[in-house]
Amino acid sequence: MSDAGEQAEARAKATPYELIGGEQKLREMVVRFYALMDAEPALAGIRKLHQPSLADATEKLFMFLSGWLGGPQLYAEKYGHPMLRARHLPFAIGKAERDQWMAGMSLAMEQVGIAPEVRESLEAAFFRTADWMRNRQEAD
Ligand code: HEM
Repeated sequence: MSDAGEQAEARAKATPYELIGGEQKLREMVVRFYALMDAEPALAGIRKLHQPSLADATEKLFMFLSGWLGGPQLYAEKYGHPMLRARHLPFAIGKAERDQWMAGMSLAMEQVGIAPEVRESLEAAFFRTADWMRNRQEAD
C-alpha cells in the first residue's frame, strides 16, 4: 500500500485522543481555551458566566474531554455521568454563547498546533455538542 494509504488507515484506527497527541496536548489545549476565554474581549460574554477562577473548569473540561475523545474516562470515574446539558441549564446559552465557545475552542486548537484535518473533524463534533447545550429561547 502507498504511504499515504497507510497513513490514512492508521488515522482511521486511532482515537481522536491519540490523533491530537494524547494527555499532554489535550491539557495544553484546554489550558489555552480558558486562557483565551479570560483574555479575549470577544469571549467576554461566556467568561462572565464562569466563576472568577477558571481552575476548576479547566480541570473538569480536561477530564471530560479525555473520555469524550476516546482516552481515559477520567471525568466519569470521578464524578459519574456528566449530564452536561443539565449542568449547563443554570447558564443562559444561545447562539451567541455557542459561537463564542466554538471560536475559543477553534483558536485554542489552532494555537496549540493540532493538525488541520483533525481540527476540522473535532470542530464538527464540538459544534454538535455546543449546539445541543443551547437552552435559551430565541428567534431564528
Ligand atoms: C455552548 C457554550 C457553552 C457555555 C456558555 C458553557 C459554559 C459553562 C459554564 C459557565 C460552566 C461552569 C464553570 C464554572 O463553574 O465556572 C461549564 C462547565 C462545564 N462545561 Fe461548558 N459551556 C459550553 C459548552 C460546553 C461544551 C461544548 C462542552 C463539552 C464539549 C462543555 C463542557 C463542560 C464541562 C465538562 C463542565 C464542567 C461540568 C461540571 O461542573 O462537572 N461545555 N460550562
